[in-house]
Amino acid sequence: MKEFDVLVVGELNVDIILDRINGFPEIGKEILSEKLTVTLGSSSAIFASNLSTLGAKVAFLGKIGKDSHAELVKSTLKAKNVNVENVIETSEFNTGVTVVLNYDTDRANVTYPGAMDHLSLDDITDVILSKAKHLHLSSVFMQPGLKPGVTELFKRAKKLGLTTSLDPQWDPSEKWELNIKELLPLIDIFLPNIKEFQFITKASSIDQGIEKVKDFANAIVIKDGVNGAHLWNNNKLVTKEAYLNSKVADCIGAGDSFDAGFISQFIKGVPLENCLQYGNVSGAVNTTKRGGTTAFSSLEDFKEIANRKFSVKL
Ligand SMILES: Nc1ncnc2c1ncn2[C@@H]1O[C@H](COP(=O)(O)OP(=O)(O)OP(=O)(O)O)[C@@H](O)[C@H]1O
Ligand SMILES: [Mg+2]
Repeated sequence: MKEFDVLVVGELNVDIILDRINGFPEIGKEILSEKLTVTLGSSSAIFASNLSTLGAKVAFLGKIGKDSHAELVKSTLKAKNVNVENVIETSEFNTGVTVVLNYDTDRANVTYPGAMDHLSLDDITDVILSKAKHLHLSSVFMQPGLKPGVTELFKRAKKLGLTTSLDPQWDPSEKWELNIKELLPLIDIFLPNIKEFQFITKASSIDQGIEKVKDFANAIVIKDGVNGAHLWNNNKLVTKEAYLNSKVADCIGAGDSFDAGFISQFIKGVPLENCLQYGNVSGAVNTTKRGGTTAFSSLEDFKEIANRKFSVKL
């Protein structure tokens, strides 16, 4: 018996969100904001929290500092029943922080990556990997300490019998350097969004991208916003439409919630097309409330929203 269903390896940071800001910042001047929210950020944390809400036993492995933000990260994950015993605390660096200046339609972000830049392959031992049935890694381009070791990490996970998934997320450097020929054979479920998929495969359409990776990839799930999501598996491309939300609160974390929905079913052995549908429901439910985890306060609430807003009985 394994202790955890899913080990999530990823980035952790705190979001400091300033709302209702009186103008734009300028050097040498001071302006005021009328609303402050300090909350756990990072797409890996949204994924882990929501996967736990959907019923999986989840452990997190990431790197944070030894500061007050570290306490916020740990207590928020713990409150969602995510095991944090393998979250590494270092006194060498501070916990990562993103300062978000939130204006009506868009936001300006400044990120200090801090400790999350320094998670490396050596931090993820075989003992920890052996405790889980499934390994999920998110935001590979945001983790420069881990990125060179990512193929080796998945090789070890596979050797130890884990199933695997990877959500690459955006590459802030926009170089999109990933050795997919080596990496994708080791990933059971690859979870990019459509832009990420096209940049990573250096293709201008889904079909062209699939053509480039089909000889060595396993299942590929491509998130496509309001168009739903596409699954390429067994030489076949299937599309499932989104459960369109006409009154979107915001889309923060929709992709991570999609991943959580998909993987919550995959680890139970549910057929991939049904996992795809569950992913779409989870992404849609995410958009009904502000932030990435608010709509996932409990499994009952999640199911109630799915039923009431999208007529899906789970
Ligand atoms: N307006 C919407 N209504 C219903 N469902 C939506 C909407 N927007 C997104 N979704 C669902 O959420 C899923 C993921 O969204 P998206 O394609 O934006 O992922 P992403 O770009 O990886 O997001 P993220 O920015 O969170 O990483 C979609 O595949 C879809 O199922
Ligand atoms: Mg995403």
